[in-house]
Amino acid sequence: MSHSFILAFFVLIELTQAIISLNPYAPHIVRCPSGSLTRPASGTLCSQESNWVKNRQAVTKQKLANFLAGANLTDFDALSFLTNTSRSINIGLAFSGGGYRAMLAGAGQLSALDERTASSDSGLKGLLQASTYISGLSGGSWLVGSIASNDYVSVDDILAQGKLWDLEKSIFNNFGLDPISAAAYYASISAEVEAKQLAGYKVTVTDPWARALSYQLLSNSPENGAGLTWSSISSLSNLKNYQMPFPILVADGRAPGTQIIDANSTIFEFTPFEMGSWDPSLSQFVQTQYIGSYLNNGKSMTGTCVNGFDNAGFVMGTSSSLFNAFILQIDTVGLPSFLSSLIKLFLLPASIINVDIAYYAPNPFYSSGGSGLLGNLGNLVGSVVGRIIGSNTLYLVDGGEDGQNVPLEPLLQPQRQVDVIFAHDNGADIGGWPSGQSLVETYERQFSSQGGGVAFPYVPDSTTFRNLNLTAKPTFFGCDARNLNALSSNPLDIPLVIYIANRPFSYWSNTSTFRLTYAEDEKRGMIRNGFETETRFNGTIDPEWPACVGCAIIRREQERQGVEQTEQCKKCFAKYCWNGDYYSGPDIGDNFSNDGLTTSSEYYNANNVEGINNGGITLFKRDVEEQEEEE
Ligand SMILES: *[C@@H]1O[C@H](CO)[C@@H](O)[C@H](O)[C@H]1NC(C)=O
Ligand SMILES: *[C@@H]1O[C@H](CO)[C@@H](O)[C@H](O)[C@H]1NC(C)=O
Ligand SMILES: *[C@@H]1O[C@H](CO)[C@@H](O)[C@H](O)[C@H]1NC(C)=O
Ligand SMILES: *[C@@H]1O[C@H](CO)[C@@H](O)[C@H](O)[C@H]1NC(C)=O
Ligand SMILES: *[C@@H]1O[C@H](CO)[C@@H](O)[C@H](O)[C@H]1NC(C)=O
Ligand SMILES: *[C@@H]1O[C@H](CO)[C@@H](O)[C@H](O)[C@H]1NC(C)=O
Ligand SMILES: *[C@@H]1O[C@H](CO)[C@@H](O)[C@H](O)[C@H]1NC(C)=O
Repeated sequence: MSHSFILAFFVLIELTQAIISLNPYAPHIVRCPSGSLTRPASGTLCSQESNWVKNRQAVTKQKLANFLAGANLTDFDALSFLTNTSRSINIGLAFSGGGYRAMLAGAGQLSALDERTASSDSGLKGLLQASTYISGLSGGSWLVGSIASNDYVSVDDILAQGKLWDLEKSIFNNFGLDPISAAAYYASISAEVEAKQLAGYKVTVTDPWARALSYQLLSNSPENGAGLTWSSISSLSNLKNYQMPFPILVADGRAPGTQIIDANSTIFEFTPFEMGSWDPSLSQFVQTQYIGSYLNNGKSMTGTCVNGFDNAGFVMGTSSSLFNAFILQIDTVGLPSFLSSLIKLFLLPASIINVDIAYYAPNPFYSSGGSGLLGNLGNLVGSVVGRIIGSNTLYLVDGGEDGQNVPLEPLLQPQRQVDVIFAHDNGADIGGWPSGQSLVETYERQFSSQGGGVAFPYVPDSTTFRNLNLTAKPTFFGCDARNLNALSSNPLDIPLVIYIANRPFSYWSNTSTFRLTYAEDEKRGMIRNGFETETRFNGTIDPEWPACVGCAIIRREQERQGVEQTEQCKKCFAKYCWNGDYYSGPDIGDNFSNDGLTTSSEYYNANNVEGINNGGITLFKRDVEEQEEEE
């Protein structure tokens, strides 16, 4: 008995050692590939992406043909149109931030586009399969990141299997675990983060946050994704075989002590192949697999390279780092000492303002780009360039902190040739509902020194969005490329935007951004409502909606060919395009009527009415612990 006890004791010690030295979360040394690991952005995609996209386009063309053939477009022959296009039609899907609200509403929206969804209530099925790109930030990165990391599992399967997205208990409430399991949970998170530190990397609160998050988002993977990298998803079968859109997650640059996040901030994107920024303040990319290597101008300084830094959960944790702050509320008593010391470090007044910052140290862009480039760019954006490539650490924060809560920037890069973007806005601007402000920020950014050359169609102010029903039903922006001449010398390169804002149909889907738990029925209610938002209430509000979406998708190619729109498409555009009007009166407020239009919410708010459609359908209206709403 005592023998086996001693044996167990030594096994435990060995285990602890193993946890530290072989912990899959710790980056590890590998041989360097030949050539530079960084490259100037210089207006081109990396060869891996452009090759991948070429192969993907063979698939999307077929899927788009299927969709268009079934979308009830009149006087339009989808097949002959698609056999005679000037280039591939590229669809981009963007999913905004907004915590679990955004993840769940986005899941419903995404499932309405997925041909694998069992429900026959969506006329948009197959568009996920016809899309070239899919982007996410913050809560939207949890959606896109977890689905891509799980080899593009469908939302139906996630719900049926019940393993991913278990939101019944908060990750900060130890999942409601008993004390012993809770201790094991924190011990393994602590060991993982400590192993990264022992391997020589600076860690921040983003590390335990990312690990905790992975227990919900990567729970299908060994050790909850401790060893799963963002770069490795390119070898999962659906991505490898071009069956799914190319995933891109977004984060912002922010140096410690600098509070300003605005149109001049650097926007970073993470693809399975590359990480970096198109913005003039960096204009460099590094191979995602090798971030964590000690590089000087793209060359290893040590003779070896590093893999494993680009942990998939860490990338999602970076994109959603705003939620890090929750970690500071954990009672550190009883936590493993490493974890409690790390947390306490960030409770100090000087550090607390930096709690949302994820460290990418060593900075993969150190000295990247050489001095000639530096001089030119230095004139353009002052010290920002020097700050990024001159720093030993790259500092990244939540992708929504610049106010662009919908991750549009990667889809606007002209070299990606995106024709149409589904901009899913599940943000909480007013009363927990979107106000279009995110699109306003993206529109304005093109006129800042950082955004030069990346055009985005005209949009009105958020007062107009709300009061002219532009958040109440899907709205198209940039319907006529001819009207965009002032924004770009190649207006046909500016994508048409299909804006779809969160809206209640069968569920009060404006839950708090910082709400961390959802019961199973609430989770399903959110997802169902997202599905209804995407489909115009399952096609009941407008049976022609799939045809109108088809009109939007083919629009740029028709313009390239000088083909006149059909009468049906003209009617669709009259119905869904922003017509250029502005609203400047008093705020009318919300009335979530059956047609999805806006009049007044006073009645609902005053009477706390449980329902919409004048009592037709009951909403699950719940009292939610309220926190300050912001993205
Ligand atoms: C498509 O077909 C039309 C008419 O047959 C032709 O005028 C046009 O040039 C073709 N477009 C392309 C891109 O081949
Ligand atoms: C809309 O379709 C979804 C998916 O099939 C379904 O769950 C939901 O009940 C439908 N909504 C209505 C109002 O029928
Ligand atoms: C097209 O019209 C048919 C007949 O009205 C209908 O059954 C079908 O659901 C429609 N398809 C779409 C995608 O709306
Ligand atoms: C961005 O930087 C430019 C040049 O330094 C400056 O003129 C402009 O005001 C900045 N824009 C914002 C939104 O800070
Ligand atoms: C959700 O919207 C309803 C209707 O406008 C409002 O009464 C409620 O306070 C909102 N809830 C949240 C959490 O913002
Ligand atoms: C917005 O919706 C309301 C309610 O249906 C309607 O009265 C109003 O005319 C709509 N406004 C616009 C600009 O369509
Ligand atoms: C909401 O708007 C609809 C359609 O305009 C209208 O019939 C209904 O009376 C309004 N409800 C409230 C409570 O204002």
